[in-house]
Amino acid sequence: MDPKIAKADEKIQKIISEKRRKSVEDKRVGSEIFDKQTLETLYKLANQGYMDVLNGAISTGKEANVLKGLKYKNGKEKFIAVKIYRIATSDFKKMQYYIQGDPRFNIKSNNKRQLINNWVNKEFRNLTRGFDAEVSVPKPIVALNNVLLLEFIGDDEGNPAQTVRNQKPEDVDDFLDKLLFETKKFIHDANLIHGDLSTFNILNKDENPVIIDVSQSVVRDHPIANELLVRDIKNIFNEFKKLGASTSIKEIKEKLDLGNDLDID
Ligand SMILES: Nc1ncnc2c1ncn2[C@@H]1O[C@H](COP(=O)(O)OP(=O)(O)OP(=O)(O)O)[C@@H](O)[C@H]1O
Ligand SMILES: [Mg+2]
Repeated sequence: MDPKIAKADEKIQKIISEKRRKSVEDKRVGSEIFDKQTLETLYKLANQGYMDVLNGAISTGKEANVLKGLKYKNGKEKFIAVKIYRIATSDFKKMQYYIQGDPRFNIKSNNKRQLINNWVNKEFRNLTRGFDAEVSVPKPIVALNNVLLLEFIGDDEGNPAQTVRNQKPEDVDDFLDKLLFETKKFIHDANLIHGDLSTFNILNKDENPVIIDVSQSVVRDHPIANELLVRDIKNIFNEFKKLGASTSIKEIKEKLDLGNDLDID
């Protein structure tokens, strides 16, 4: 093994072994996602002081794994979310489709790593736009290669907030109202269309919505922006209707301040 990688591996193993309890799930995540470049990236981030310990998996998805990280600050533990994109299973066609036509990313490369790095960078920048516009999104911390560090959404004990899919809001109409208010700011102040808005990508943090997973979000003048917006609205309508909300497409459009330009059947 390359001595540099070996050193990174040793350091990451140290980080991992520092965990209080090593669960089976952690081991699985470890062997699945820590390819050489990811190890190096995590090593760099640890070295730069962004995190001290990796502390187990929050979610093992198709394209990305989300882990819990710990940062020690003034003798206190602070949790962070560590989103790691897997090079092997990422959907490059999708990434290319969304990145093409975005004036912020003028790339014509077919290089997979470069595409993923751009994708992660895009998620970071979209989060930053959302956060700066005071939308309820996790605060972005740093993006490096295929790794994104962001604010951990959960309680002080380190239990992550659940998705709306997994934890139905107590008052669905009220929750939807809050979600539409956040989405309105995302559209008009951050100038972004989410593109994958669904109960899978909204966390229920103490009955308040937190919008996540914004890698595919596009600027409003992107050629596919309107198509995505229509899809988002239909999704939210259908999913919240199923949860028991009393709403209509018309009402959702009004609450999003979209005027009459958008045709939705
Ligand atoms: N900041 C966060 N704090 C706590 N939990 C989070 C955070 N970000 C993501 N998660 C958890 O990780 C899951 C996956 O995150 P996300 O939706 O961003 O990834 P994804 O792109 O959908 O991954 P995949 O498509 O591979 O499933 C979420 O459903 C949520 O449970
Ligand atoms: Mg998701």
